[in-house]
Amino acid sequence: MTNKVISHGAAKPHAGGSGPSGSGVSPGGGVPPRADTSLPSRAAAAAVLDIEAIRADFPILGREVRGGNPLIYLDSGATAQKPRQVLEAERDFYTTHNAAAHRGAHLLGEEATDAYEAARTRVAAFIGAEPAEIVFTKSATEAINLVAYAMSNAATSGKEAARFAVGPGDEILVTEMEHHANLVPWQQLCERTGATLRWFGVTPQGRLDTSAIGELINTRTRLVAVTGQSNVTGDVPDIGQIAATAHAVGALVVADGAQAVPHRAVDVRALGADFLAFSAHKMLGPSGVGVLWGRRELLEAMPPFITGGSMIEVVRMEGSTFLPPPERFEAGVPAAAQAVGLAAACDYLDGLGMASVEAHEHALTGHALEVVGGIDGVRIIGPLSTEHRGGAVSFVVDGIHPHDVGQVLDELGIAVRTGHHCAWPLHRALGVQASTRATFYVYNTHEEVDALADGIRQAQQFFDGTRGVVPLGRQSGAA
Ligand SMILES: Cc1ncc(COP(=O)(O)O)c(C=O)c1O
Repeated sequence: MTNKVISHGAAKPHAGGSGPSGSGVSPGGGVPPRADTSLPSRAAAAAVLDIEAIRADFPILGREVRGGNPLIYLDSGATAQKPRQVLEAERDFYTTHNAAAHRGAHLLGEEATDAYEAARTRVAAFIGAEPAEIVFTKSATEAINLVAYAMSNAATSGKEAARFAVGPGDEILVTEMEHHANLVPWQQLCERTGATLRWFGVTPQGRLDTSAIGELINTRTRLVAVTGQSNVTGDVPDIGQIAATAHAVGALVVADGAQAVPHRAVDVRALGADFLAFSAHKMLGPSGVGVLWGRRELLEAMPPFITGGSMIEVVRMEGSTFLPPPERFEAGVPAAAQAVGLAAACDYLDGLGMASVEAHEHALTGHALEVVGGIDGVRIIGPLSTEHRGGAVSFVVDGIHPHDVGQVLDELGIAVRTGHHCAWPLHRALGVQASTRATFYVYNTHEEVDALADGIRQAQQFFDGTRGVVPLGRQSGAA
């Protein structure tokens, strides 16, 4: 597809709203093309997004929060806000087509099935996959667990599944920067099977440290699980390099795309991984639906995780046989309305152009590293350059607990995340208990980043021994 200067999503351009924005992104994106090929782009060059028009699509951005402040939402890494196109797609499904997909022998059942399968095709196109390779799950977490449980089921699932079986002497390799969703399932797999868990460390800058790759990936390695982008430091590991090394020893590669697929064009054919997991709710879509992409030949050989209705071929009291993928992995009545909403989110993002989405966030990240990282007493937890880096900016403020920083920001209407962000080992490795995290998306502005920096300065004033004396209030006037 080509990238246009475009105001908002759905597949077609917004009527009358395609001019350059006041977003602070210069014409043409103003950002040099990334040399990074770890998550290769299938999109054309970046164009400027019309942020005002985009914001108008998100009803929630019009609301006021504490003290009548306009909402500044800097927590899209936790969950993204939803444009009305996504809300309307879900509502339309429920108001006109609602039925159990793949179950009913009636018109609504047929329409629901068609809508669900069309959503599968749409999501497949978004990541360059075949529809049969798209398994709808509840979330990225469930998608990763699906692979981990399929691997422990493999020991008792016949010859076809043998390539997934692991046991004592085998190694599962993860990284110290994983979200718990891409760590705990592998720890549990090792506990169930007797395999050994190993991991890549991180550099003091919060980058993945692959210097020991030659030793860590060896003939005992059966699977490597790695994030497409750290949800804390924003680091974008080189999945291509890791996958090439893993495949050379016959290991499988699972990429956690929860923070990658929403933010840059991902083409699974160029990615190098064998599986990719992501969640709709982090990419402008509904909660309750996620995706596991897997190479077709692998899904065909992989045993199921959750069993029950809709995934069977023949059921007898003595035992059952299973459908081919993707149905084999989709037991139960599927979340059809949510899948339809996810398809609408794909339309919206492709309407903007993923290269433009990436360029916009790249510019916001650079700005945040400058204005937040430039505050005395603030330390960024992660790379200070925007190279190979996405829009998660975590930081610690000397002498102030992240929860207190978050509370002051919240009083100002600025929503951020505080804590370990489900990446406890990473925080430990970087020598911090917890951090405050700002994450950006298509609707965020440079003025909001300035407001964040102002808010941090106010938190510093508030906690500098004159507790309560300094009144809190917005300084930058950002909406
Ligand atoms: C990097 C990463 N992986 C996985 C997940 C899990 O996503 P979900 O909770 O939607 O399953 C998250 C959520 O924050 C994440 O940031």
